[in-house]
Amino acid sequence: MPESMQNWKRTVYCGDLNKDNISETVVLTGWVDTRRDHGGLIFIDLRDRTGIVQVVISPDTVPEAFSKAEGVRSEYVLAVTGNVGKRPEGSENPNINTGDVEIITSELKVLNRAKTTPISIEDNINADENIRLRYRYLDLRRPEMQKNLMLRHRASKIIRDFLDVNNFLEIETPMLTRSTPEGARDYLVPSRLHTGNFYALPQSPQIFKQLLMVSGVDRYFQIVRCFRDEDLRSDRQPEFTQVDLEMSFVDEDDIMSLMEKMIARLCSETIDVQVDQPFQRLSYYEAMERYGSDKPDTRFGMELVDIGDIAEKCEFKVFNSVTSGGGKVKGIKAPGCASFSRKEIDDLTEFAAIYKARGLAYFIVTESGVKSPIAKFFKEDEINILLERFEAGPGDLLLFVADKPKIVYSALGALRLHLAEMLDLIPYNKYNFLWVSDFPLLEYDEEERRWVAMHHPFTSPREEDIELLESDPGKVRARAYDLVFNGVEAGGGSVRIHNRDVQEKMFSAIGLSEEEAREKFGFMLDAFDYGTPPHGGIAFGLDRLLMLLAGKKTIRDVIPFPKTQSGTDLMMSSPGSVDPAQLQELHIKIAGKNSKNKTRV
Ligand code: AMO
Ligand code: AMP
Repeated sequence: MPESMQNWKRTVYCGDLNKDNISETVVLTGWVDTRRDHGGLIFIDLRDRTGIVQVVISPDTVPEAFSKAEGVRSEYVLAVTGNVGKRPEGSENPNINTGDVEIITSELKVLNRAKTTPISIEDNINADENIRLRYRYLDLRRPEMQKNLMLRHRASKIIRDFLDVNNFLEIETPMLTRSTPEGARDYLVPSRLHTGNFYALPQSPQIFKQLLMVSGVDRYFQIVRCFRDEDLRSDRQPEFTQVDLEMSFVDEDDIMSLMEKMIARLCSETIDVQVDQPFQRLSYYEAMERYGSDKPDTRFGMELVDIGDIAEKCEFKVFNSVTSGGGKVKGIKAPGCASFSRKEIDDLTEFAAIYKARGLAYFIVTESGVKSPIAKFFKEDEINILLERFEAGPGDLLLFVADKPKIVYSALGALRLHLAEMLDLIPYNKYNFLWVSDFPLLEYDEEERRWVAMHHPFTSPREEDIELLESDPGKVRARAYDLVFNGVEAGGGSVRIHNRDVQEKMFSAIGLSEEEAREKFGFMLDAFDYGTPPHGGIAFGLDRLLMLLAGKKTIRDVIPFPKTQSGTDLMMSSPGSVDPAQLQELHIKIAGKNSKNKTRV
């Protein structure tokens, strides 16, 4: 039987032991990482959240402990009393912090047994992620995951302390809120007391934090859970955490420069990386033109190059028709890729087609000139200008897309990342931050056939553009900014509208009638009548920041209990069915023959 914990109190963590502890008597508690029998002695690597230490049990001095140790297996829970000894010369283990010492056991307790675990409790395992998620409590026992949990704790504490010193108040806002139009799909919560009505879980505390500015809070922050029912990806979860904040009496420069200090502090105190300030700034237009993305990865070059002027003059009909129709022709250089086979170029063309590119024209640059099915449509001097513009030489491959700007940006932007990964051009030890600003306030949604807010409808237009809201909405620039970290959108914010007239104009620009605006946002419009200070703010995706700081590819690795790509929790089997009585109480009936009200896993 496992033994009781009575009178067993840990005196030190395993991973904290070192030479300074030699000859101390210690009590350790933890899990059996490995057990080895060596010529009569048993060696156990005991593990807790701080690391592992070697425990030695001798049959001569502690026969009782020795016989218990013989029955011990991986992941058994032990308490060990012993003396810290120096390891014999030559048997030190430089791979672990505690490698100079070992515990000479005087007493051993087996506090609990363990079955063989479905995943190994070690780093760099190859296990299927679904198994890891199903047994998340074991997955989290692995050292790299423990490190991520500690990083998360440390990062939140650094951010809290930074904001506290800078006069921010941490204030909670409701989780049961109201569904508002715009943004992603809401998670709804039915109301029992108000039959047929629903709360919505917050997509962000945007409206509350602005109202706190009306309340005179001046500086607010919250490390807060947000919920969005959208298609999931490696950096998107249905519930995620924002570092959300708002400030009164500031402009965009005040917010950005304070946030740079916070991010720099975060990097230096978590991963000991010093980042230069001020961060680089790019306008949205420049980001799209140069990188084909509003969240460019600027750790490497391979910028998009415009060849509209040459495309216009050349004799390739596809290019001419695109330029005369107001489209763009741009290209990128794949350095050293002239040796790509026909099949490899076809694969790239297929890749570009995912982003709706209708083709991918190419130039193979060789010592004896350019090889391409479309080279014949270009004059020699046009080809020379083109090669010069791309700084291309023999051995390079140039790839071109001609289309509507949106398609050119997204196809070449994606191709740039794809090729960089393929060619191993991304320096993974670089930490690159940049602000993207001057976004358009509105973008046209072809499906809904109306203008929608590019950020959210509370973002302020530039003062000088306000009059364009009615006449030329696409031209209005927003006072918004995104923080991009190694090609990932890590945060976004804006200076807000704080004036009723402008807010009403904005609602009207996105197609909300006066009645709808009053019905959905009347409280906010009313608030603007009672002395709203100028204000602005930002929210960072904490999970994304941590993913990048930890060098992980998905935010699932830094979230203790994440959902799968299809939004399920494999450990709890949620979403799950509920008792019919619960549905009845809520007056909810499940419609449709496919809805068997079953757990989807
Ligand atoms: P936004 O919608 O840009 O802005 O969100 C802010 C940041 O939150 C992160 N993020 C996500 N992280 C993980 N999973 C998701 N599904 C997810 N969605 C967003 C991103 C993003 O940059 N209220 C505004 C902020 C403001 O204007 O102050 C807002 O929520 O890193
Ligand atoms: P075609 O004239 O269709 O034989 O195309 C000749 C070359 O131009 C092929 O390599 C196509 O992939 C490419 N191409 C066709 N349409 C486009 C486009 N819109 N943008 C870039 N390249 C294109």
